[in-house]
Amino acid sequence: TQLILRPRLSLHRLILALIIFCLLSMEAPPLPFSRLRQVKAVDNSRTDPVVLVFVESIYSQLGQEIVAILESSRFHYRTEIAPGKGDMPTLTERNRGRYTLIIYENVLKYVNLDAWNRDLLDKYCTEYGVGVIGFFKANENSLLSAQLKGFPLFLHSHLGLRDYRINPNAPLLYITKPNQVEQGPLPGDDWTIFQSNHSTYEPVLLASTKSSEALSHFGPSPLRALHATVVQDLGLHDGIQRVLFGNNLNYWLHKLVFVDAIAYLTGKRLCLSLDRHILVDVDDIFVGKEGTRMKVSDVEALLNTQNKLRGLVPNFTFNLGFSGKFYHTGTDEEDQGDDMLLQHRMDFWWFPHMWSHMQPHLFHNVSVLAEQMRLNKIFAQEHGIPTDMGYAVAPHHSGVYPVHSQLYEAWKSVWGIKVTSTEEYPHLRPARYRRGFIHNGIQVLPRQTCGLFTHTIFYNEYPGGSKELDKSIRGGELFLTVLLNPISIFMTHLSNYGNDRLGLYTFESLVKFVQCWTNLRLQTLPPVQLAERYFQIFPEERDPLWQNPCHDKRHKDIWSKEKTCDRLPKFLVIGPQKTGTTALHSFLSLHPAITSSFPSPITFEEIQFFSGVNYDNGIDWYMDFFPFPSNVSTDFMFEKSANYFDTEVAPKRAAALLPRAKILAVLINPSDRAYSWYQHQRAHQDPAALNNTFHEVVTAGPSAPRDVLALQRRCLNPGVYASHLERWLQHYQPSQLHIVDGALLRSNPALVMEGIQRFLSVTPIFNYTQALIYDDSKGFWCQRVEGGRAKCLGKSKGRKYPEMSPESRAFLAEYYREHNMELLRLLNRLGQSLPSWLRQELQSTSWS
Ligand code: A3P
Repeated sequence: TQLILRPRLSLHRLILALIIFCLLSMEAPPLPFSRLRQVKAVDNSRTDPVVLVFVESIYSQLGQEIVAILESSRFHYRTEIAPGKGDMPTLTERNRGRYTLIIYENVLKYVNLDAWNRDLLDKYCTEYGVGVIGFFKANENSLLSAQLKGFPLFLHSHLGLRDYRINPNAPLLYITKPNQVEQGPLPGDDWTIFQSNHSTYEPVLLASTKSSEALSHFGPSPLRALHATVVQDLGLHDGIQRVLFGNNLNYWLHKLVFVDAIAYLTGKRLCLSLDRHILVDVDDIFVGKEGTRMKVSDVEALLNTQNKLRGLVPNFTFNLGFSGKFYHTGTDEEDQGDDMLLQHRMDFWWFPHMWSHMQPHLFHNVSVLAEQMRLNKIFAQEHGIPTDMGYAVAPHHSGVYPVHSQLYEAWKSVWGIKVTSTEEYPHLRPARYRRGFIHNGIQVLPRQTCGLFTHTIFYNEYPGGSKELDKSIRGGELFLTVLLNPISIFMTHLSNYGNDRLGLYTFESLVKFVQCWTNLRLQTLPPVQLAERYFQIFPEERDPLWQNPCHDKRHKDIWSKEKTCDRLPKFLVIGPQKTGTTALHSFLSLHPAITSSFPSPITFEEIQFFSGVNYDNGIDWYMDFFPFPSNVSTDFMFEKSANYFDTEVAPKRAAALLPRAKILAVLINPSDRAYSWYQHQRAHQDPAALNNTFHEVVTAGPSAPRDVLALQRRCLNPGVYASHLERWLQHYQPSQLHIVDGALLRSNPALVMEGIQRFLSVTPIFNYTQALIYDDSKGFWCQRVEGGRAKCLGKSKGRKYPEMSPESRAFLAEYYREHNMELLRLLNRLGQSLPSWLRQELQSTSWS
């Protein structure tokens, strides 16, 4: 306080004042958005282990495959185009390493780094114990044989290889089981092998050359008969551990070893456990067309395979989904198959569909939907099918995602459903992004694709040829799904178990392949326990992130015709609280081309959807706050919830649902905002505000009572404007954000409203000079109504209270000084004009 009361000018202050002067008078060009995105990526790297991937280009295939594996494993990463000379990205931050592993798509970019950068990278790796993975892909320019620059390691490339085997002594092996040999030629003639006499190198994968090519110029080698195509550098040469691949990731075994290499080099920080749970749903039991259904012999085969699988996957049980209406609708032989399934009903797990296999989103009325479910339940009870598994699946994912709240309600009331699964959240493709979430007490698990569909019935007619199915099982997509997902639910159909029984073939082969090549422990669990396990492993997935159903054609197709995506706002007023947001809301509502949301009776008119528990209600709930566009003159809708501004999750949630929305934030001097909040709490009889002066609240130390500290937080935190705005800018383009000067809104609202209309591109431009009138007794601008009278906001807006004490003002000016500087920099960067209060505040604090 002394500083403020007794102004003096130190050199330090003078320099600061000059900097502020320069910033204030600067017309900085807006920063490109890509730069802002980079800032975000850096921030994320603070908490999670992050992999740095040097790719050849953003389109390079191997780079994309590396990233796909990292994404499937849910590992954080950052890609950089492998630098030529002189522009290595920053590797440390506040004495902490940013990256836990370095991957080079092209290892030559690594070995050929200029001395300065190589030295920098080596130091980083040794100091932080960071390993390197690199790939050597021979091309027409690469030499046939050479020494790897700076390493006691020789390469010999352009080779054809055969009979792949795993070195059981390679320390990195974890998931990979070494006792098998992949007989026969390896695809392509562009393999590279590594040779060395240095003890730092341990082969991981070994093969023989196809022809007996002479490799004599390499000198005597202990690996003469078998050549290493993947080697592990144990760090005995220069203290850095590496894994080098003599080819790309095309060959399936390389993917497996790559996953192990990541785990090994990160000390298992980036590593899944060996447990893998699988659940195989057999859908459409009874629903299949004549000729595709199961006969008695098929059911016997199903039981036999289930028994066989139980020897490999403890308790393995097929999970059968049924629609009772279609029972006994096949040929005589198939009807006997139905009966045989029911006879052995206790050998399986069961889950219900709709009685008539209808898509739930077509039912708008919960009770009609529930009635359909009840019919199926009666069928189950009459035929002794267990009804207590707690799991259900909707035909074609309908109603699960996008959420049709009626389905969730009906499931709970009729069946007591706790778990379902879908391929649609957040989207079908790419499959590696599929996630789970919990809504209305029902746990939604991601479902994986196994390559079998209702129409894949015959082995020889498999799309692309039966080789495609076998490829998927033997190291391809299906194998990778199990490798990279701790829990996989697969959907198959009745038709996959009749005729060629591809379902049995696929899963038996898959389980055997997994057990042959990996140490994975395959297991199964009933759905409810499986869901419990899933959210234990991925607790961060519990909360959903709702998106607009109309942004994905598949979602739109399973979105009720009675619902419309037009019932969503085009812009948001995000706050913060006490800056004049209610006044802004009321002024916007006067505009003939703008429609406000309906007021919420619970949360003081605001919807507060993105900021708290209301979000759990889902978007149907949110949309109900907006009129049907056909019922209003304009669909240019908005809502104002002033706590969005400083709520951590709000920007991410808002951007997921409303990526194209425009965002308005109102800023006043944060000290005044804090004081207004304090007065607001006094008016609401908050004991902390009634029993403590404002000064006591804002200056309270950490040992102050809890309620005082809570009030202090609500007074001070929202005013840290720049950091909240940065969070919004991680999800929205700068051009979507408009900063409203709250002080000007108060003194000259017509001028501010003109600027807002231009920003929103709303027409016609409404003349607020005529629509508003200054009310002397209120001391604020109000709506002009009939007879030139003023209709002002209620008592709680524009309260009368004493001025803030000079001590508190001085304290807060100091408290917010650095934050206001940040805001100044941010607004300059964005090219947004500076609020007058910010100029004044910075000028006064910098000279004081
Ligand atoms: P005070 O009541 O502390 O003066 P919000 O609506 O975001 O909660 O902000 C309330 C603040 O809006 C009021 O705080 C008041 O200062 C300010 N305000 C700005 N223009 C106003 C207007 N035309 N009528 C009433 N309050 C206005």
